[in-house]
Amino acid sequence: MIDPTSQYRTMEDLSLQGKRVLVRVDFNVPLEDGEVTDDNRIKSALPTINYLTDSNAKVILTSHLGRPGGEVKEELRLDPVGERLSELVEADVKKLDDTIGPEVKGEVEEMEPGSIILLENTRFYSGEKGKGDEFVQKLSELGEFFVNDAFGMVHRKHSSNYGVATKLPSAAGKLILKEVKGLTPAVEDPDHPFVAIIGGKKASSKIGALWDMVERVDKFLIGGALAFTFLHAQGHLVGDSLIEESMVEDVRDFLDKVKEDRSTEVLLPVDAKVSQEFSADGEVKTVDATKIPPDWMGIDIGPATIENYSDEIEGAQTLAWAGPLGGFELQPFQAGTREVAQAVADSSGYRIIGGGETGAAITQFGFADEMDHVSTGGGACLGFLRGKELPALEILKVKNE
Ligand code: 3PG
Repeated sequence: MIDPTSQYRTMEDLSLQGKRVLVRVDFNVPLEDGEVTDDNRIKSALPTINYLTDSNAKVILTSHLGRPGGEVKEELRLDPVGERLSELVEADVKKLDDTIGPEVKGEVEEMEPGSIILLENTRFYSGEKGKGDEFVQKLSELGEFFVNDAFGMVHRKHSSNYGVATKLPSAAGKLILKEVKGLTPAVEDPDHPFVAIIGGKKASSKIGALWDMVERVDKFLIGGALAFTFLHAQGHLVGDSLIEESMVEDVRDFLDKVKEDRSTEVLLPVDAKVSQEFSADGEVKTVDATKIPPDWMGIDIGPATIENYSDEIEGAQTLAWAGPLGGFELQPFQAGTREVAQAVADSSGYRIIGGGETGAAITQFGFADEMDHVSTGGGACLGFLRGKELPALEILKVKNE
């Protein structure tokens, strides 16, 4: 296979010494009481940041945080992120209180080579997402070059990750290159059997991925709350489980297509751990997943399903996993996700773990280092695995020069 990263301009292709480099990172991290509770995305950007400071570039970092909807939300300022970054790079990171404007421009003009500035949350400006011509122009003026390292955002066509790339000489950062390299084996000519583990809450956020991946995947193992929409679509009794009634037709169409083609199999849970409340304190029992009693809801896959899925995983040559298989945040419902993670870790196939909740679960259970690739992207990773054209990646390709 040709190196998939060779399509991209890289930082090594540009002369960045002493230059102002605007860097889009994805510092959309969880916060609690003004502290970063998971710094994985910040750590993942360090290879790019360190490369730039070692090259004596002036590093201007820009990111969104949360969804403030184009207005300033005090709790979504990037100060805690700046503090954590400063600890990680063991250097001063000057966090500014604005993203664009004369004061920001003044600070940038004063920068020394090798220093780092962090701009305020891009989503405090409506121009980040909407009609952003003026915002793009002002943000671009801050840099002489643009580096995009925000993999978690490549499925979005926003001003700070796409617009600026149309204005400045641009390159892909090291995290983006790592993600492209890590995810491509599931998209281009994957080794078979290819097993995709699909979980999470909503069938609506995964059904498109199932359609897009069906030609490549040999077996889909379905878990998470979305499995109950599948079981309900087949006419089974799912009690009080979370289902999306509006997705039932789509799910049926998909299952019919798979049945007709016979080249792909969709495996559903045969048993489920159920409770009468979504909490760690209620009574828990294991029941047939097709006969969940009224008033009980499925919150995890059961032991027989874990065994079935583990057998499939053992023989897989390519594995991609998006979405936890149960409510792993509640201790009694961790086993499905944890034991399937163990099976994936033990497999000799090529193992890809999607970002967001799946990545968090795999990290929590201590398996992250055993996987071939753990993505930092949730929606972006799924978009890549679907084989979709991702705007913020396309614009970084050499052909666009
Ligand atoms: C993510 O967390 O998936 C990315 O940072 C994108 O965030 P968004 O879904 O709010 O655009």
